Order: sequence, then C-alpha cells, then structure tokens
Amino acid sequence: MPVSTKISDFIRRSSWIRKMFEEGAKLKAQHGPEKVFDFSLGNPNLEPSPAMKKAIANAASDTARGIHGYMPNAGFPSVRAAVAKKIREDEGVEIDQNWIVMTVGAGGALNVVLKTFLNDGDEVVVPKPFFVEYVFYVDNHGGKAVQVPTKGDFSLDLNAMEQAINPNTAAVLINSPNNPTGKVYSQQDIDGLARLLERKSKEIGRTIVLISDEPYRAITYDRVTVPSILKAYTSSVVVTSFSKDLSLAGERLGYVALNPSMDGAGAAMEGLVLCNRILGFVNAPAIMQRAVQGALRDVVDIGVYKRRRDLLYSALTSFGYECVKPEGAFYLFPKSPLEDDVAFVGLLQKKLILTVPGSGFGGPGYFRIAYCVSDETIQGSLAGFEEAIKEV
Ligand SMILES: Cc1ncc(COP(=O)(O)O)c(C=O)c1O
Repeated sequence: MPVSTKISDFIRRSSWIRKMFEEGAKLKAQHGPEKVFDFSLGNPNLEPSPAMKKAIANAASDTARGIHGYMPNAGFPSVRAAVAKKIREDEGVEIDQNWIVMTVGAGGALNVVLKTFLNDGDEVVVPKPFFVEYVFYVDNHGGKAVQVPTKGDFSLDLNAMEQAINPNTAAVLINSPNNPTGKVYSQQDIDGLARLLERKSKEIGRTIVLISDEPYRAITYDRVTVPSILKAYTSSVVVTSFSKDLSLAGERLGYVALNPSMDGAGAAMEGLVLCNRILGFVNAPAIMQRAVQGALRDVVDIGVYKRRRDLLYSALTSFGYECVKPEGAFYLFPKSPLEDDVAFVGLLQKKLILTVPGSGFGGPGYFRIAYCVSDETIQGSLAGFEEAIKEV
C-alpha cells in the first residue's frame, strides 16, 4: 500500500472523526437534516459581523496593482502592526510588528511554532483533555506529546505537570479557553505554571517554551478574563486565529505572537518566518489579511453563545448530567452517564443527536457537545438528551 505505515495508523486512530461524519451524513440522508441534532463540529454557526463582511468585500475589490502577489513571509507589515497594537492594548505588554507572524489559521501557527522549537525526540507536555490534532501536530515535527491529567474541574494540575517534565521537555502546550472543556485557566494557575517552568528550565538546563493556543480568547462568559501568557512567562509564544471570534474558520487566517523578551527571540523569529515558508504556507492569505486589519475587534455576538451555553447547561444538569460549567469557548464536556463514552455517544446517535466521545480528546468517560449551533437544534435535542440519561 503506498500510504505510509504511520499515516495508516493515524487514520485508524482518528477514525472516530470520520465515523461521526459518516454516521451523521447517513442519518441526515435518512431522516432529513433538520431532524438530526449535530453537535459534532466546532464550526461557528454565527455569521461574521456586517462590518467584517464589508471589509472582506472591500479588500477583494481593491484594484491596486500587486496586492495579490507574494509578500514578506511574516505577512503585511501594516497588518502585523495592527495585531501588535491590539495585543498591547488588551494585555498591556510591549510588543510590536517585528514579533508577529501572520499564519494559515491557528493550526498553521501551531505547526510553524512546533517546527521552529522541536528537535527530534523532544517532548511537549499537554494537559488533557486537549484539541485532538495536537498529537499529530507534535508528531509532524519529530516530537512526542506527553499527556498529563488536569484536576476534576479541568484546571491545571501543576504537580502532574512537574512530574512529566524531564530533560527532553522542549515545550508545554496549553489551550484556554479550552476545547473541549470550556475551562479558562485562572491567573493563579498561569502564575503557578510560569514559576514552575522557570524553576524546571533551570533544573534541566534548557528553556522550556510555553505555547498558548488561544483561538477562543474573546469568547468568555460572566466577565471571566483570560490571563496574558506573554506577561506571565518570558519564554512564551501565543498562537491564535480569527476562525472562532470573527467566525472566519474557512478563511484560514491566524498569527503567532512571540515574546520579545524570550532568550534568543531574534533567532526564534527568524525560525518562525522560515518555517511559515518551508512548511509550504509561504504566507497567510493576502485578501484576508487586508480585510481583518481594520476589523480586528468585530467579534461576533458572544451573548448568543452565552444564551446557548446557559440553555444547554441548565437543561442537561436538570436531567441529571454532571458537567463543569464552561467559562469560555463553545463546548460542553459532560460526564458520560455510561462509563463507556463511545457507547453513550452511540445511544445519543439513536436519538439523532451527534456528539463526540471524550476518548478522542484524551478524556474518556466524557463526551463533547459543540453548541455553536442554532437555538432550534438545541431545543430540538433536549428530549433526546433526557431520554438517553433515563435509559441508562
Ligand atoms: C483549540 C484549538 N486550536 C486550534 C484550532 C484550529 O483552528 P484554526 O481553524 O484557526 O486552524 C482549533 C479548531 O477547532 C481549536 O479548537
């Protein structure tokens, strides 16, 4: 078979994604799409704001010469300057355009960062549950993801992280607000992690890089705020995108922000720019860069996601589901009423409700509900959720 052994194995390991997709398509063909309650994908269902749409139309209809050509691999300087200004305003950190690389989404940004920092055999500590692609991304660049548990409320377990760190540890990769749990790590947790990494870096004689994946930073509820990683830890790098907060997932735009105070920041920046090029991205999409430049704050209406979180959370807990209330992102990660989360997700499927087993995120015994769907989908699904827990 021409497909490599490793990729054949990856296909098998990620098969539940394909399975959900195939089962969903089958159910929709059989019963009609409106009868199937699909909570399986983190694809925002809110439209980009009217201002954002206008900015895209304006950027696309610009007739100036050369604007569709290559540009510096890091992206348009004016766009990077706008991004840096926003970070300065939001996080109170000193950063300018020289420390920003525009990327093909957060997924592209993570690959650029991992390629820049990992040597073959290096380890990346990842609190679980986690965004399922991390394991593959780390492997892409010769590394190994080391999964560590979090506490019962999904907050960071610093003791577990400490035990996982060893001389092979190149980086720690965190994601807050978290997919799949909706957890936002507190300032205390982040400060504790920063002190731990400073101490362990000295102990093992190498700088541990803290990579913070933040595509949901703007999506938080009840005035919860996301601590600044750049402020908390010197050897830090933030990756993010406009996929979720501006609802531009298909347009593939994100960025890397490197901490200017990192030891060897200049070389790291050169590495990031080179990796953006040699991974084949070359540069982030030109029209979209110009479109977001003036619309960075045109975030979709977070109140709609909050309403959906409240509706689903209060309904499910009233039916008896156990669930940590999400503080951000648009996912709910309840405990599976059956120990076997795959079996419970199968039972929900019989009620035409599509969710994803926690096992796929390194969180067996739970299941993920992506509530970036319409109010009607949520309302329509509630009877099925109630029946399913009663049946078990
Ligand atoms: C935690 C997390 N990181 C990264 C990504 C990738 O985002 P992008 O579409 O910007 O590549 C996602 C997408 O769902 C995500 O949930």
